[in-house]
Amino acid sequence: MSSPSTSPLAADLRLGEVVGALSYALDLTEGQPPGHSLRCCYLGMQLAGPLGLDDAEATDLYYTLLLKDAGCSSNAARLCELYGADDRTTKRDVKTVDLQSVKQLGRFVLSHTGLKKGLWTRFKLLLNLLRNGEQLATEVVQARCERGAAIAMQLGFSRRVAAGIQSLDEHHNGKGRPRGIAGDDIPLLSRIALLAQVADVFHQVGGADAALAELRRRSGTWFDPALVDLFCDVAAAPAMWQGLAAPDLEASVMALEPTSTREPLTEARMDAIARGFGQVIDAKSPYTSGHSGRVADYCEAIGARLGLGAVRLRWLRRAGMLHDIGKLGVSNTILDKPGKLDDAEWNEMRGHAAHTHAILSRITPLRELATVAGAHHERLDGGGYPWGLQHEQIPLETRIITVADIWDAISADRPYRAGMPLNKALQVMQDLVGGAIDPDVHRALLDALPQVGGRADVESVQSLLASERQLTSA
Ligand SMILES: [Fe+2]
Ligand SMILES: [Fe+2]
Repeated sequence: MSSPSTSPLAADLRLGEVVGALSYALDLTEGQPPGHSLRCCYLGMQLAGPLGLDDAEATDLYYTLLLKDAGCSSNAARLCELYGADDRTTKRDVKTVDLQSVKQLGRFVLSHTGLKKGLWTRFKLLLNLLRNGEQLATEVVQARCERGAAIAMQLGFSRRVAAGIQSLDEHHNGKGRPRGIAGDDIPLLSRIALLAQVADVFHQVGGADAALAELRRRSGTWFDPALVDLFCDVAAAPAMWQGLAAPDLEASVMALEPTSTREPLTEARMDAIARGFGQVIDAKSPYTSGHSGRVADYCEAIGARLGLGAVRLRWLRRAGMLHDIGKLGVSNTILDKPGKLDDAEWNEMRGHAAHTHAILSRITPLRELATVAGAHHERLDGGGYPWGLQHEQIPLETRIITVADIWDAISADRPYRAGMPLNKALQVMQDLVGGAIDPDVHRALLDALPQVGGRADVESVQSLLASERQLTSA
């Protein structure tokens, strides 16, 4: 394979470019129109100059804005459960609600809770929200903020970025969540990020006038009045709004990162980004907890046994971490559904592979990573998706991810069931050889299992493999 899976990172690839592209996955989870995080970055960065931020502060603001939703997946399953509804719709629509207005909040809860459920289930959901709404709201916001802050630190960003994300939902008058801090106790970067978020949401719905009207309406309650005034001054220039809607918004946002403090995108940083986003993916559903990390481990072990060099192994591990990033765009009503999926749900579930490809393709130098990861549900016999590729059309790296992915899917313990017994799991894999999965890669998995067997202890894997070898060599 050619670059990049056999090559080091392109020297001109920027940290902002990678984070900006991956922020599209966060937009999907939040149910926001694509580019929401980038637009927030554009809007919030308009205040960096007028506020007199130095380059280090402006850089932290830049990444706070791009990653403000890094914790978004951690409360998706819980929201889906509490509202009995599509988490993406709930998350999208709540952003237009003034949560300090009892009337607006009541209307939102009534119009979003258990609409597709039976009357009794809907009643129980509403009763729970009515009785415990305050505590539950704090709980879901807290999960999101703390997780987002932790992810930012894992991605290698500063404490100031983490703090900015952690206090995103605090309000100027102290009626925000989770801590209820007020005024200047709220980090400046959080105050700017919340303002930018509301500005983008209302701009999408009703244009610049609607955005500015909402900011002014919430000035003094949600927002620091001085920041609202400053933003309204900046936003008086039509060019600012034209830039927001321009087709080259991505390039404009890339240009907003201060140059003096730009950090090089090292190989280690790229690994940390893949690992961090792997955790964002895994937090989306309790049913796939830890999946991306384990798939990455299996991939590396299999790849090593197939003789892949260090650079290729590193890319393979990143692809393993990110292969399901498209699942951030799938509703938890589907991901967490205990029963069988209907045709429409199954189509949406299958769509995650194409989403993975689309998100990773946004980083031009990483197009090959996009192809490798996006094809992980292809089968050698052409019966897979999203493209129906066959045999030699499927890169070796993809074949490795496919084997690692299936092995983890059948062998890992889930909240609702234990993993498949080892001998049965091995039989399932054997049955897939030649049709879905590559025989050489399958063999490499069997060789690797004693070292990376997951829940299975080494001895039991080894004894099973010994008997399996006797059978296959017979
Ligand atoms: Fe997948
Ligand atoms: Fe997967």
